Amino acid sequence: MTGTEPNEEAQQGRVRQLYPLPERAPLAGLYLAHDLRSCVDGDTAYVYSNFIASLDGRIAVARAGDGSTEVPRETANSRDWRLLLELAAPADALIVSGRFVRELASGSAQSAPPLEGDVPAELLNWRREQGLTAQPALVVVSNSLVLPVESLLQRERQIVVITSEAAPADRARSLEARGIEVIRAGGQQVDGRRMVAALAGRDLKLIYSVAGPAVMHTLLEARVLHRLYLTTVLRVLSGEGYATLAQGPQLDPAYDFELSSLYLDPCGPDGVGQLLQVFDCARR
Ligand SMILES: NC(=O)c1ccc[n+]([C@@H]2O[C@H](COP(=O)([O-])OP(=O)(O)OC[C@H]3O[C@@H](n4cnc5c(N)ncnc54)[C@H](OP(=O)(O)O)[C@@H]3O)[C@@H](O)[C@H]2O)c1
Repeated sequence: MTGTEPNEEAQQGRVRQLYPLPERAPLAGLYLAHDLRSCVDGDTAYVYSNFIASLDGRIAVARAGDGSTEVPRETANSRDWRLLLELAAPADALIVSGRFVRELASGSAQSAPPLEGDVPAELLNWRREQGLTAQPALVVVSNSLVLPVESLLQRERQIVVITSEAAPADRARSLEARGIEVIRAGGQQVDGRRMVAALAGRDLKLIYSVAGPAVMHTLLEARVLHRLYLTTVLRVLSGEGYATLAQGPQLDPAYDFELSSLYLDPCGPDGVGQLLQVFDCARR
């Protein structure tokens, strides 16, 4: 091999771009350079999401004991997390699930919502330089409306709850009484198209979903997802009780993507490589 060896690249915080053109690039700044803010076109929202998966497609596995799930310890890693923060930096709004905010309140969440907690100062500074609010708005998708109000109110950011007409009215009223905006965007479930339109109408146009497979299905079913960032860790986990990136009725027609960029990060979890893939929606 000529040039820089993989270990050296990892130590230098570099990745290899494999597509569209082979070249080396620093990991830090890789996704920020995608300039997602330029994807918002007038009044039209731009929606993107990301996942980290094992080679056998697991984005979450069962936690021991309580029936809940979590991102596998074998795939989660700081380099992927850095890229996730770079995706959050330009966003107007971050979509999370009701489940996530319940875990946040109970202390069992695996992380704080981006960009809270331990975040590289340059990303927060970058946001400020763009004239954006300090934190993207937190958009909570929930049908149960079993949401920890105090925990939500502690967040120093705009909070919007998106729910359906079927959600319990008394719970919606309690949230509203505490100053939390509740938007009904769907009949029995939240409808992705209505959700995105409601957010765009509030000037939240660059929308990043960090939620899981049910929200992903909601976005795909409504045909509103523009881009998917997918990190595939080159490890097979197997095991029972897991989730893949979309969960819900079969999509008809299927949701098609085209490859936009592909990178090899030689130093994912425990030094195992990971592919960083960027897919754009092929049919809208
Ligand atoms: N590997 C990865 O990159 C990755 C990324 C994200 C999440 N995950 C993992 O995936 C698992 C599930 O994550 P998650 O619970 O955040 O995501 P989720 O499965 O997308 O969301 C589930 C919850 O969101 C609400 N919801 C989703 N779609 C809805 C709709 N159309 N209408 C109304 N409510 C809707 C419901 O909340 P209520 O119960 O409040 O009604 C539901 O319980 C977790 O283990 C998480 O760690 C992995």
